[in-house]
Amino acid sequence: MGLLVLAAVGLRAQDKPAALGRPVSAAEMKQRDITVLPNGKGLPEGQGAATDGEAVYKNQCASCHGPNGEGQPQGTQLVGGIGSLASANPVRTVGSYWPYATSVWDYIHRAMPLNQPGSLSANDTYAVTAFLLQRNGIIQASDVMNQDTLAKVRMPNRDGFVPDSRPDVGPASRSAQNHVNRKSAAPNSKSDSK
Ligand code: HEC
Repeated sequence: MGLLVLAAVGLRAQDKPAALGRPVSAAEMKQRDITVLPNGKGLPEGQGAATDGEAVYKNQCASCHGPNGEGQPQGTQLVGGIGSLASANPVRTVGSYWPYATSVWDYIHRAMPLNQPGSLSANDTYAVTAFLLQRNGIIQASDVMNQDTLAKVRMPNRDGFVPDSRPDVGPASRSAQNHVNRKSAAPNSKSDSK
């Protein structure tokens, strides 16, 4: 909204629009205007299984992430490492780290392929997400992922995240008690976060 107002003001001052940008089409808006919550709310219609996703992966992902999601310099490892996070050699992948399959879908749909983000259809995103889940041994090759089934997938590291207990972040920081504590802290006290 702020941008629109600014543009209108600019127009009056110069009498002619700056030759910047172009109107967003309804289709583009629909493609981008998606927020997917962990419980699957916001996922669009569509579906795909690992068997469909294999071709999507091979054509659009393997060049960077390796033929089997093993990772290479151009793209991170996406498969394997389950159970390794607490070990001396943690391997962080879609299978070992991500707590929600719905977030994997959202990330891929928004950001991948890296060289053409936002280009994957909903069906292709369901399919390639299913492919990665299947290669991680989380679902079967024939399991169809859609608005309902994706949210029901239980990721191995689902319980590996804990609430941030530092008093200066998260819900705890908004309680009245913490507010008082923070105000009474010495003005030159430094935060040790980050
Ligand atoms: C041009 C190279 C390239 C292509 C093609 C590509 N990726 Fe990626 N991908 C990357 C890079 C680099 C990252 C790490 C990005 C970062 O950390 O900001 C990444 C990150 C990811 C992640 C997050 C990994 C994690 O655990 O943090 C996923 C999932 C993913 N890509 C899936 C895909 C899928 C699915 C495709 C095909 C549709 C694809 N990528 C195509 C380069 C690529």
